[in-house]
Amino acid sequence: MNMALPALSPGRSFEGGLDPAERASRDEIMSLQRERLAWSLRHAYENVPFYRQAFDKAGVHPSDLRDLSDLAKFPFTVKTDLRDNYPFGLFAVPKEKLIRVHGSSGTTGKPIVVGYTKADIDMWADVMARSIRAAGVRPGMMVHVAYGYGLFTGGLGAHYGVERLGCTVVPMSGGMTERQVQLIHDFKPDAIMVTPSYMLALMDGFAKAGLDPRETSLKYGIFGAEPWTNAMRQEIERDFALDATDIYGLSEVIGPGVAQECVETKDGLHIWEDHFYPEVIDPLTGEVLPDGSKGELVFTSLTKEAFPIIRYRTRDLTRLLPGTARPGMRRMEKVTGRSDDMIILRGVNVFPTQIEEILLAVEACSGHYQIELTRDGRMDEMTVHAEIREEVYGEVDVDATGKRILKRIKDTIGITTRITLHEPGGIERTATGKAKRILDRRPKE
Ligand code: DLL
Repeated sequence: MNMALPALSPGRSFEGGLDPAERASRDEIMSLQRERLAWSLRHAYENVPFYRQAFDKAGVHPSDLRDLSDLAKFPFTVKTDLRDNYPFGLFAVPKEKLIRVHGSSGTTGKPIVVGYTKADIDMWADVMARSIRAAGVRPGMMVHVAYGYGLFTGGLGAHYGVERLGCTVVPMSGGMTERQVQLIHDFKPDAIMVTPSYMLALMDGFAKAGLDPRETSLKYGIFGAEPWTNAMRQEIERDFALDATDIYGLSEVIGPGVAQECVETKDGLHIWEDHFYPEVIDPLTGEVLPDGSKGELVFTSLTKEAFPIIRYRTRDLTRLLPGTARPGMRRMEKVTGRSDDMIILRGVNVFPTQIEEILLAVEACSGHYQIELTRDGRMDEMTVHAEIREEVYGEVDVDATGKRILKRIKDTIGITTRITLHEPGGIERTATGKAKRILDRRPKE
C-alpha cells in the first residue's frame, strides 16, 4: 500500500464495550472521514486503471478533495462497470495480496466478483462484530448462522464477525429446514442470523416439528440481505419471542456489516461511517440530496485495499438521519425497496414492502407472499399471492379476507389488483437466501 491508513485511535477491544469509532463524536468521525477519503480516492486512482480513466474523463483528481462535499465532483460507479471489468479488473492490489474473493450472482448475466486482502477481512470482521454486538449479542453467546456460505457474503461475513466478537458460531448455512430446527432445539443458541424470509420458513419448520418457536433459546435475530418491513419485525418478534434488528450491506461495498440497527432503539441502521461513506442522491439527476431526503444510497469505501469502491450506486432507496444510539454515525432508514423492484402499475409506483405491510396488518395472513405481473391486452395487471396462516386456516372466510385486502390496497396505494389466497405452505419457499417477491410474466417488449 502506498501510504499508511489514518486511524482513529490504536487498539480495539470488544470485550465488554464499544470500539473507539462507536464512541467518537460526529466531528471526530468527519475528520477521520476526510483523511480516509483522500487516501481511498488516491488509492483507487493510482492502482485501478478504470478509476484513473473515469476521474480523468470527469476532469477531477484526488487532490481536488478538500472537504467531504467535494466527493460530489467525482464520477459514480455502477453495477455494469463491475460486469465490464469481470472478473478482476477493478482490484487495486496484485493477486498475491488477495486472501479471499466473493461474488454475487445478480439476477442476470455474469456474476460480480469482489476481493479482500488480509486487512480487508480483518476490518470486515470488526464491523460485523460491532454489528452483532449492537444487535444485543455479547461475548460468550452462541450464534446460529443460517445465511448461505460460499460466494455469497452473508455466511462467511457473519461467521468471522461472530468469532471476532468472542462468541461460538454454528456455521449452519441455508437450507435443510428440518435440520436447522433440530439444531436450534438441541444446541440452544442465543442468536440467529438469517434472511427474514427464511426465518418465516424456519417458523413453519418449528410448527411441523410440533415445537413452539416462542420456547426456543433464541433471544436475538439479525435479519437482512433483503427488504423487510417493521410489520414483519413485529411478526417475527411475536412468533419467536426475540429482539429482531436489521443488518444491511452489499458485496460491492464489503458484504453484510455496512450498517446495523441498535437493539436499544430499533430506529434505523447506524452506518459504520468510519469505513463507509454514504451519500443519498436523486436517482434521476445524480444530485446529492441533503440529509433527511429520500433517494438512492451511494457508498464510497474509506479503508478497503483490494477492492476500493468510489461512489457506488446501490439502487437502494432510503434517507440519512442523525445518529442516536451511536451519536457520531448517521443512520439510514430501513431500506423499503430498490429502484429495480419498483413496480409501476398503470402509473402508480408500488414496492413489494407496501404489500407486505398491508398483508401483515390482516390477522389471517402470514408473511409469505409474491406479486405476479401479467398483461391483459394493453393493461398491466397485478395479482397478489398471499397465504392464510396455519392457525386460522379453515376458520377464516377466505372470500371476505381477500376483499378486505383488495380494499386496503386500493385505499392506501390507490391501485386495483387481484388477489389469490393460498393454503398454508402454498407459496413457494426459497430454499436459502433471498425471497423472490416479483414474478414478472408480462411479455418482453
Ligand atoms: O445481501 C449482503 C448481506 C448479507 C446483507 C447478509 C445483510 C445480511 P448482496 O448479495 O450483494 O449482499 O446484496 C446486496 O441486498 O443492495 C440491498 O438491495 C439488499 N439488502 C441487503 N441488506 C438489506 C437490508 C448482501 N437489511 C443487496 N434491507 C443490497 C433491505 C437489503 N435490503
